[in-house]
Amino acid sequence: MTSRKAKLIIDGKEIDLPIIEGTMGPPSIDIRTLSQEGLYTFDPGYISTASCSSAITFVDGLNSQLLYRGYPIEQLAEKCDFLDVSYLLFNGELPDAKEKEVFQSTINGHSLIHDQLTSVFKGFRRDAHPMAVMIGVVGSMSAFYFDDMDVSNRKHRRLSAERLLAKLPTIGAWSYTYNLGLPFVYPQNDLGYAGNFLNMMFSSPNKKYQNNPVLTRAFEKILILHADHEQNASTSTVRLVGSSGANPYACIASGIASLWGPAHGGANEATLKMLAEIKNESRIGEYINRAKDKDDEFRLMGFGHRVYRNKDPRSEIMKVTCHEVLDELNLSNEPLFKLALALEKIALEDEYFIERKLFPNVDFYSGIVMKALGIPNSMFTAVFAIARTAGWVSHWNEMMGDKNNKIGRPRQIYTGKTQRNIS
Ligand code: SDX
Repeated sequence: MTSRKAKLIIDGKEIDLPIIEGTMGPPSIDIRTLSQEGLYTFDPGYISTASCSSAITFVDGLNSQLLYRGYPIEQLAEKCDFLDVSYLLFNGELPDAKEKEVFQSTINGHSLIHDQLTSVFKGFRRDAHPMAVMIGVVGSMSAFYFDDMDVSNRKHRRLSAERLLAKLPTIGAWSYTYNLGLPFVYPQNDLGYAGNFLNMMFSSPNKKYQNNPVLTRAFEKILILHADHEQNASTSTVRLVGSSGANPYACIASGIASLWGPAHGGANEATLKMLAEIKNESRIGEYINRAKDKDDEFRLMGFGHRVYRNKDPRSEIMKVTCHEVLDELNLSNEPLFKLALALEKIALEDEYFIERKLFPNVDFYSGIVMKALGIPNSMFTAVFAIARTAGWVSHWNEMMGDKNNKIGRPRQIYTGKTQRNIS
């Protein structure tokens, strides 16, 4: 808290409001006492409003900076694996060798799911979207792993976080193979987190998946880049649901539901659908014009961001990874990928996009990389959910460990009928 104050003058009355500053980022006016004056603020979408304080992740949209517990995303993507990053987000520090060994063993120990949960999959149609299946199965974990849980108990929270981190890849991969009518492939603890997921996705009883280190590392970077991102829509959803004391499995299921939206985590799937619709470079101009047309709801998927007003640092890393994967698989001349790079070039030179700082976000390239890895469009957001579970459980744990935590209950501006009587 600084000694600086903001002064609100309303109807001749002066109200002093303290200004709060964190360790990084812009100051905020503390408006908590306004309600005592019978005054409220209006900020749909939280454009100018901080919903909480947090020590986990910092995003500087103007300077394209993303820090997980103070470490730049560029260094984490280069030097760490996803379990290092998950441990860092939850605990606040990177694990030393012993801590990493214990954590890896703990996650391995939880990678299977209760055998009765496999029948929850069977309640879905085979063509159910993997995100629908994940929401259902993760929510059902409340009935299998919540019986002895006290959300105010730090050890209980850690156990449920470890269970979720360990089981999401299994649930995600099985949501896909269930679609195909294939038998579930069980986790192999010697394959590492990223390799294990790819193995469950692509191997089958009669065909062993051949691990390619370049592709596995590319997938690991997708997980690292998507692990957390401050109070985005799905993380804010997890916090709001958790603020009522709901169990962690219900909280994470709600986060998956929010992430599914095309404006949020569904953007990578929507990007590939958009590229398929554009079909070839000769039609790019038509779609750029549609994206600018206020009467057309079409938006260029994979472009723009609520916070980044210059480049998204993650998309810079993902772009390099994208070229590595396309080179490794000799796909650089594939029409779809050439179309994506042509679209990016044209958009970045267009005044409308430049003026509005609409640059490719992380989803523009991650969709292309996942497509090249053979992951189907319908699984892109499922992969995002697996990665973001590391952030979601960390924010949930941080909030539940805060003794000042209050149930989230926003106000509103009522615009409906004034009181009237039934005649
Ligand atoms: C993620 O919050 C996070 O951190 C999210 C995320 C995470 O890690 O959790 O980073 C992941 O969700 C990335 C974003 C993925 N979404 C998409 O790629 C979908 C396409 N992008 C847009 O829907 C949009 O850019 C948003 C939702 C991402 C951001 O929307 P904002 O900040 O609310 O921007 P806005 O609607 O106020 O737009 C500002 C202007 C408008 O034009 P004007 O009214 O000023 O003339 O930019 C235009 C918009 O029409 N605009 C676009 C556009 N995005 C914004 N025009 C065309 N195409 C777009 N993609």
